[in-house]
Amino acid sequence: MRLGIVIMAAGKGTRLKSKRAKVLHAIGGKPLLQHVIAAAAQVVPPHDIVAIVGHQAEAVQAAVRASGVRFVVQHEQLGTGHAIQTAEPATRDYDELIVLSGDVPLLRPETITRLRDFHLREGAAMTILTAALADPFGYGRIVRKSAGSPEVLAIVEQKDLEPEQEKIREINSGIYAFDREKLFGHIGQLRDDNAHRELYLTDVAKLLSAGRQRVVAIEAARPEEILGANTIAEMMKLDRELRLANANRLMDAGVTIFQPETAMIDSGVEVGPDTIVEPFVQLLGETRVGSDCLIRSNTVIVNSTVADGVHILQSCVITDAVIEKGARIGPMANLRPGTHIGEGAHVGNFVELKKTNLGKGSKANHLSYLGDAEIGSGVNIGAGTITCNYDGVNKHKTIIGDGVFVGSDSALVAPIVIGEGSYIGAGSVITKDVPPEALAVARGKQVVKEGWAKTRRAQHEARKFETSKT
Ligand code: UD1
Ligand code: CA
Repeated sequence: MRLGIVIMAAGKGTRLKSKRAKVLHAIGGKPLLQHVIAAAAQVVPPHDIVAIVGHQAEAVQAAVRASGVRFVVQHEQLGTGHAIQTAEPATRDYDELIVLSGDVPLLRPETITRLRDFHLREGAAMTILTAALADPFGYGRIVRKSAGSPEVLAIVEQKDLEPEQEKIREINSGIYAFDREKLFGHIGQLRDDNAHRELYLTDVAKLLSAGRQRVVAIEAARPEEILGANTIAEMMKLDRELRLANANRLMDAGVTIFQPETAMIDSGVEVGPDTIVEPFVQLLGETRVGSDCLIRSNTVIVNSTVADGVHILQSCVITDAVIEKGARIGPMANLRPGTHIGEGAHVGNFVELKKTNLGKGSKANHLSYLGDAEIGSGVNIGAGTITCNYDGVNKHKTIIGDGVFVGSDSALVAPIVIGEGSYIGAGSVITKDVPPEALAVARGKQVVKEGWAKTRRAQHEARKFETSKT
């Protein structure tokens, strides 16, 4: 038996009221379609998956091209039945087809294989994955041959329901298995005589059943996994499900997450045991956090690697950065792409780093900008130090040797090299390289005039006395 999977992803998603195609909207940090492809790819190899694209076809293909699936373009979106018609030539190698919807992203691979196995066991022409929902509004409803029968007569869309059918709670998930030959033997008979003037794939159930072909339904084990995302509100509900599942996965692995319902954790994130995550933390993309770390409230970490025993205090923003063991970051630090924080180093409040390596045990504790800098180990960067890396045209490097002490409020004008073990006096504007073990001071000389203030005050009093007399 040769099995192919077809994913319908050509629709515009009118109900989202968005410029962007529906399947490109993200939940859990990934586009809807990517979730569906990931599940399908657990069941068949990517070249046996065909994604039907149409609305913003190029952007949709670009977003998921790396998955290796094949594409079919449905130039005009005339309904789900029409979408499957366009996939006829691309699926000729298969005996059976599983059809998935690009906007049903929580579907698990286990459920796809269960649907496949049931479909084959039943020898059905069409098998529909269904669920009983407390609120079935908006979904197509399943009309069974009789109560308790596995066989289905028809699927009726919300807008076409007869009054007594509105009570049916069993809904169509938009996920099916088909005997391919029987599907394409009947799909030509679809008509658009319905509320939307579309060719409904759901009407194939009626056509097959009327043609004495076996149409059956199987209920999903968990109704949540077949929920569709037609509106932003529905999508955010799924996003919450997914992120809560991610938080639960980490908690099962020994991570403490306070108020996990406030955590925004993407599916690709890994965290080691005994790490503590406070409320309202976001761990996004391919972030890796080690064990025994502390991540305090409102911190956002994107695509970064954090080693064991690191403390990240409140409200830090960390993007494409690497933080080594035992470092201390924050509160309110901004680590931009290309930042590397060495073992045990400290980065304090209102410090921004970009493409900068801060060596082992070095400290930049307050109010600094460190960009395009190579900073050795055991360095102290005083409060308010700025690397002047940009001359208005090009970016230049600052190199600071091991053990350097940079006094507060210094401006290091790049390109510049500060030699090992040297000192920079506070308030300096350093424009020339400093040799190792030297002291460099570059600031206005202090002038002290003894008694000056006292004299001035006396003059002032005298003038006041003169004017009061006139
Ligand atoms: C569909 C089902 C409905 C089911 C629901 C489950 C039909 C007619 N109805 O309704 O019974 O309860 O899914 O979520 O199928 N698409 C295309 N080309 C098109 C139209 C749609 O590729 O011309 C794609 C969409 O991008 C989407 C999927 O098919 O990924 C489903 O389309 P959508 O319009 O969302 O169908 P529903 O109204 O949700
Ligand atoms: Ca839908």
